[in-house]
Amino acid sequence: MFQRFRRNRLNPHLRALVRETHVSTDDFVYPLFVRPGSGIKTEVSSMPGVFQMSIDEAIKECDELKRLGLFSIILFGIPEVKDAVGSDALCEHGIIAEAVRAIKKAHPDMFVVTDLCFCEYTDHGHCGIIDHVHETVDNDATLEISGKQALVHAKAGADMIAPSGMMDGIIETLRTALDEGGYENLPIMSYSTKFSSGYYGPFRDVAESTPSFGDRGSYQMDPANRREAINESIADEAQGADILMVKPALAYLDIIRDVKENTKLPLAIYNVSGEYAMLKYAGEKGLIDYDRVMMETMIAFKRAGADIIISYHAKEVAKLLGK
Ligand code: PBG
Ligand code: ZN
Repeated sequence: MFQRFRRNRLNPHLRALVRETHVSTDDFVYPLFVRPGSGIKTEVSSMPGVFQMSIDEAIKECDELKRLGLFSIILFGIPEVKDAVGSDALCEHGIIAEAVRAIKKAHPDMFVVTDLCFCEYTDHGHCGIIDHVHETVDNDATLEISGKQALVHAKAGADMIAPSGMMDGIIETLRTALDEGGYENLPIMSYSTKFSSGYYGPFRDVAESTPSFGDRGSYQMDPANRREAINESIADEAQGADILMVKPALAYLDIIRDVKENTKLPLAIYNVSGEYAMLKYAGEKGLIDYDRVMMETMIAFKRAGADIIISYHAKEVAKLLGK
């Protein structure tokens, strides 16, 4: 019988030899949500297995991550007090600054990325300062305070800054602020191609960052636009980003491939909260083989062109890889 393709599939070792895509714990960044207090570890109902944690609990979590071979985290802060300009994010004693300092002190070998945005810190839940005349976010006013926020993160000891607010010119602004502040070696991972997506719903429960009016359509990208998605990432590369990102991931595998082919930087993807929640609940209902579908999804990200995967599944993936 003629078996042109099946010959290479008959033996599991041969299948491993010819496998084109691999997933490793090295690929992952694990998101952590920190809030003030101590001894707090609260699970969020929309994301089973994801917790808001006080800093002491986040430090314990890092012990577990390291045991699993995971050495990179991205931090999100939930401040005690929110206001119109997100002051907590600009304060050296705000939640993120405190968390970075404490985590780096306890775990100098963890690579700590900070999400740089204002939606978790503003009382209106938008990603910057509101322009009340146009009922949108004021781009340049937000750039100005973003530079300050970057320096707060840098001084606290962040290893990489990840701006997620989709303001025009943010990379150039942050690069200049960091260079002038003496942080020429601090890399920027840009949320360069971030869509205005319904898949962020569960995250906004965890981060308590749902906009109190309107939506993020005037700054995040239209899911229908492919050429614009490529252009946004090319622009961030030109402005000096060190790593680019496509977010969400699963419904945007084509864009991951497009950005990979049209840029030369390492590419991260954000496997977002809604994607995580869908698998979790389908798994809990017994509708899918959760572990299998999860790994298949991670392979799909890598195959599409991702170098880095930011995912709430990271710990589960690491456990499976370790088996
Ligand atoms: C903040 C931010 C968001 C996410 C990461 N950073 C939410 C948003 O833009 O509303 C989403 C992450 C997720 O859904 O897991 N700008
Ligand atoms: Zn935001």
